[in-house]
Amino acid sequence: MIEFLDLKLRNREMQTLFMASCDDVIDSGRYVGGPMVTKFEHAFAKYVGASHMVGVGNGLDAIRLALQALGIGGGDEVLVPGISAIATGLAVQQLGAVPVLVDVDASTGLIDLEAAADAVTPRTRAMVPVHLYGRPVNMDVVLEIAERHDLMVVEDCAQAHGATWMGRTVGTIGHAGAFSFYPTKNLGALGDAGGVVTHDKRVADRVRSLANYGAVKDRYDHQLPGWNSRLDPMQANALRVQLPYLNEWNARRQQIAQRYHLALAGSTVATPLTWPDAGHVWHLYVVKAKNRPRFRQQLESAGIGTEVHYPTALMDAPALHSAIGNTPKARHLADCVVSLPCHPWLADSDVDHIVETLRTLGDIPWQ
Ligand SMILES: Cc1ncc(COP(=O)(O)O)c(C=O)c1O
Repeated sequence: MIEFLDLKLRNREMQTLFMASCDDVIDSGRYVGGPMVTKFEHAFAKYVGASHMVGVGNGLDAIRLALQALGIGGGDEVLVPGISAIATGLAVQQLGAVPVLVDVDASTGLIDLEAAADAVTPRTRAMVPVHLYGRPVNMDVVLEIAERHDLMVVEDCAQAHGATWMGRTVGTIGHAGAFSFYPTKNLGALGDAGGVVTHDKRVADRVRSLANYGAVKDRYDHQLPGWNSRLDPMQANALRVQLPYLNEWNARRQQIAQRYHLALAGSTVATPLTWPDAGHVWHLYVVKAKNRPRFRQQLESAGIGTEVHYPTALMDAPALHSAIGNTPKARHLADCVVSLPCHPWLADSDVDHIVETLRTLGDIPWQ
């Protein structure tokens, strides 16, 4: 069986480095904060080209902390795409702000920027473009809308480590970028982890303070209503040793995506949701299937695991009770998307088998 994602395959490649990275932390005697966290923060900031990186507990907190540090709070409206991980909407809601769900482009799943501009009201204060599945949102248009309406922009980069828009790495284009290092991400930890990148030192300082009980000058100088969302040094070290491999891993994802893309050309069973383009890092390879249960079943019978990202549009998630907005295209995608295995540890023979299976699928002749 080719599992959708088996992280033990990554661990086999990284085993020696992971063990040494744990030993380093144990030997350091610093188990919260300290030099291992700082080292990763500097390495990741350099990788994306940001002036600052603050390690935090997870991706949801990264979005929430970035928004809070930029002054977003109770009653503010924040534009969020209609399909994403629930965390994108929850981060907004947890601040007492209103998630305004904007419909998405049906051919990419990314936020529809015309619809975003139309959704702006006098209460709109921010936008959270999500680089969904690893594909960058058109940040030129995002910045144009933001400038026109004086909005803060927090890029949700949880699925897009190393993705680029017009040569700039995502996360560094808006006011702040929020990353998740959840184990399955393109750069994934051995547990929960996240980070905020920004060029603005004041934003970085506020995020660091809010994530550390609001402490400012020293650990007992609690100035801000913060909480505890610090990056664990074990995770920081495990992430740092993987960072040199990220570009190579992303390139392998791009190669696999190209092959699936060609295999699906002309298929009437399933079509690629998006096309291979330069800055895309293929966190997920997502297709639209005419008959999702049947398509998944056919792949399952051929020994290929699949997933669905996501089965529910945010407008249909009861947890997001304060959200507003109607997003029929996002709802349609939630009904038909399927994610195929697409990760750097797939063997060539696995990719060949998936490609062959895609080519021979269904009751339609392959052309
Ligand atoms: C687009 C997106 N945003 C936010 C998150 C939240 O990250 P985390 O699970 O680390 O809280 C995720 C990951 O689940 C995600 O995919």
